[in-house]
Amino acid sequence: MEFWRHPGDLRVACERARAAGRRVGLVPTMGALHAGHLALIAEARRRTDFVAVTVFVNPTQFGVGEDLARYPRTLERDLAACAEAGADGVFAPDVAAMYPPGEETRVRVGATAGPLCGVHRPAHFEGVATVVTKLLSLAGPCVAVFGRKDYQQLQVIRRLVADLFLPVEVVGATTVREPDGLAMSSRNAYLSPEQRSAARAIPLALAGACRAFARGERRAAALLEPARARLAAVATSIDYVDLADPESLAIWSDAPAIGDRALLAVAVRVGTTRLIDNVVLGED
Ligand code: PAJ
Repeated sequence: MEFWRHPGDLRVACERARAAGRRVGLVPTMGALHAGHLALIAEARRRTDFVAVTVFVNPTQFGVGEDLARYPRTLERDLAACAEAGADGVFAPDVAAMYPPGEETRVRVGATAGPLCGVHRPAHFEGVATVVTKLLSLAGPCVAVFGRKDYQQLQVIRRLVADLFLPVEVVGATTVREPDGLAMSSRNAYLSPEQRSAARAIPLALAGACRAFARGERRAAALLEPARARLAAVATSIDYVDLADPESLAIWSDAPAIGDRALLAVAVRVGTTRLIDNVVLGED
């Protein structure tokens, strides 16, 4: 497996792969890799023949008071996991390489980034869009794989790829869960044993809404209220529990009824740890 530190090295490696007739797959991550990330690498391997993983804790997507400083950094283990998963190379630049002195350009995101996490993390998606644009620009024509766990992020990236005419196919991969249903996340490592067990309420709340939806329930309030109550019982605070249009992410929570496909997305704090999860009713 190759290891690239400099942006130019990723560009050259991807250009070489394409020149040799290989399709390039890109899996952007912030490291602290778990089975969810490895599933993205597996998906990229199924679809392409040269898989580049990026490991970069992107400072511009963290707000003041968020966990940038304490975000887990485990590069040695991540490299071993990527090699094991069959990645062809890992790009792990330092901050000064991605944001050199004098840089100032940001990718401004639109309405897709406004609701849900956008309300609570105002500059977050601009930071994500900026770093993802840099990574896609370095990789060139490729298949880029993102997780549906970060559903809004996936939609913001689909939008940016379409709007900027990037030569990229975006693939959304299924959320990988712990045996008890909690979505895998690097942030789960922050949870105490008690908090970890309280966090089970998140997948249970989503599953309850899925069952009600499958029984034919389409009233937004009837889908949301039990989920909100279940989460309120264990969460330190709730950022949102909302129904939304699965494409535009326009909020449907106050609509009397929803259609046959709807995003149900949640963000709650358990202790000080912010956890997100979602399900697309009528699809997942
Ligand atoms: P990170 O949180 O490391 O996640 C990297 C990718 O893994 C994202 O596409 C995310 O949706 C996916 N992922 C995380 N947990 C998952 C799970 N349980 N199942 C399936 N996929 C999962 O998301 C980011 O990093 C950053 O914002 C990034 C896109 C790299 C830009 O900095």
